[in-house]
Amino acid sequence: MGSEQLENFLRKLELKRLLDIGVGDGERLAWILERLPSLENAVAVDVRESALKLAGERLSELPITLKLYDGKGLPFDNASFDAVALFNVLHHVPEGDALLAEAWRMLQPGGRLLLRDCLADTDDQPQHNRLELHRLAHEVRDEPYLNRSLDEVLGLIEQLPKVVIEERWEFVPDHPDGLLDTELLDTLRKEMIESDSKLLQSFDQLLARIETEGIRHQNYIFLSLVKP
Ligand SMILES: C[S@@+](CC[C@H](N)C(=O)[O-])C[C@H]1O[C@@H](n2cnc3c(N)ncnc32)[C@H](O)[C@@H]1O
Repeated sequence: MGSEQLENFLRKLELKRLLDIGVGDGERLAWILERLPSLENAVAVDVRESALKLAGERLSELPITLKLYDGKGLPFDNASFDAVALFNVLHHVPEGDALLAEAWRMLQPGGRLLLRDCLADTDDQPQHNRLELHRLAHEVRDEPYLNRSLDEVLGLIEQLPKVVIEERWEFVPDHPDGLLDTELLDTLRKEMIESDSKLLQSFDQLLARIETEGIRHQNYIFLSLVKP
């Protein structure tokens, strides 16, 4: 499961002001906002202009401010938000400690850091194949990718001052895997051809392995961390 558990959890919160770091195309934030009826306003940031454009189109009817900022250094005052969301962003940021420290700084006392991310720990070969596809998809685009193990994620969390783990669960997503979309796979292959023959070779070998061994979603973690 995953989304049902998250939905039940979000619906219990009475949040007023949310910061979403790494909003991407805005689809997940739209889903989250539907489940937070008490929210008065939200700010969403991303380092990629193209992501903000998509998010702007998708979220145009909602009370959201979108900004082109790096989550590791944000121009908001301390304690400005009662929740900060980091959904699927940590594995894009090698300086995870700086990202988490910045998110923590902006939380009010009693505020929550909501963190969801994929994990590098795999249970079997089909999951390992998924991890490899995920890695190659980022490598061809020169995007930072650092999938951490559960222990590494928990190690980063422990560095936050006085952190209280309110919720923690690990799960395998229950939605279809977007990475297996045939159009996306074709686009990735074209990008591999243009970029680097070694990447293309690894990609084709991986696709052949997926044919025989299968592919399965990675493990994910969700954490709600309270700042006392
Ligand atoms: C996998 S997408 C996740 C999008 C969305 N949060 C979701 O869960 O669907 C990761 C997003 O984080 C953004 N990102 C990566 N590093 C960032 C940083 N340092 N600060 C802000 N956004 C960042 C990327 O540009 C990308 O849009």
